[in-house]
Amino acid sequence: MTSNGPIVSIVGTGSYLPERILTNADLEKMVETSDEWITTRTGIRSRHIAAAHEATSDLAAEASRRALAAAGLTAEAVDLIVVATVTPDMPFPSTACFVQDKIGAKNAFCFDLEAACSGFLYALDVGYRYLVSGGARTALIIGGEKLSSVTDWQDRTTCVLFGDGAGAVVLQLRDSGRGIIGSVAGSDGTLADLLNIPGGGSRHPSSQETIEQRLHFMKMQGNEVFKHAVRCMCDAANKVLSRNNLKTDDVAWVIPHQANLRIIQAISTRLGIGLDRFCVNLDKVGNMSGASVPVALDEAVRAGRIKKGDLVLFVAFGGGFTWGASVMEWDHGQ
Ligand code: UT7
Repeated sequence: MTSNGPIVSIVGTGSYLPERILTNADLEKMVETSDEWITTRTGIRSRHIAAAHEATSDLAAEASRRALAAAGLTAEAVDLIVVATVTPDMPFPSTACFVQDKIGAKNAFCFDLEAACSGFLYALDVGYRYLVSGGARTALIIGGEKLSSVTDWQDRTTCVLFGDGAGAVVLQLRDSGRGIIGSVAGSDGTLADLLNIPGGGSRHPSSQETIEQRLHFMKMQGNEVFKHAVRCMCDAANKVLSRNNLKTDDVAWVIPHQANLRIIQAISTRLGIGLDRFCVNLDKVGNMSGASVPVALDEAVRAGRIKKGDLVLFVAFGGGFTWGASVMEWDHGQ
């Protein structure tokens, strides 16, 4: 999609991280790992873990309240809620419906979108299209995950990577500026086996056997995923820039999916955009799948890093495989 018609922009951001922090030192006591391995291989030092009573919708609702407050809007103004998540509260109804109830967005229609770690960027594009077509006027686009609920705490190859949290943005039409300039997305279902949760769906419904085989937990062939992640995110970033007649030099900030600092460094080198122009928070939050991009965005906005007129490039990659990139001009703040 490239924008020539109505201008759609992010008019508020918010995020929420659960209180409890799990450090690499804590993980050393749980599985055979070390702070040194986790830090040098991933860049992650700690992550937030939701309480037992907190579900994804609780994290998403708090992020949404903060985004609406930043936008100066009440929940009644929202007419579309999309939650990107791989850890819904339940298979159905949608987590978005639970968020609607929690924040009192009684005028909204609501659904979830599943595109793993790329989910937020897919949802942003869906929200953009609803606004452009007149199907909605104010959209709440959320990435929220309680990945700790699908993490195998006995598997050191995955349990050190993930964290819980939620980020939200409010989309509205604007009458000036550029807002969201363009987005691209892609998928490759032939590589679904490299990153998934095999059990609990219609293929392997939950049973004593699936539980014993630990099929309800996330599985990943990390080093294979790594290679595809770098290639696909670079391709997506280059494609969204070239389709919109933009150059890497035009980009003020890159907000990448936060899976691994080495992936972000490789993208920085290949794109020729200095690491100092990447917003990176994975050291403190780990990989939060669909929540990574909106939380990193909100932190950068609240820290005053992103200024009015800055060109912001979002890029993500995840299970499916799925990937996507969006570019926008930030049009408020200082
Ligand atoms: O968010 C969606 C997309 N996800 C990603 O993009 C993740 C992409 N992948 C990665 O970030 C990296 O591949 C990992 C961080 C998951 C793994 O790093 P790696 O450098 O690819 O390590 P590896 O899987 O090749 O494993 C290297 C060694 C192995 O030991 P051997 O076989 O060489 O003896 C692993 O068993 O490191 C071992 N290892 C660990 N050692 C200590 C794996 N996990 C751990 C651990 N602590 N936690």
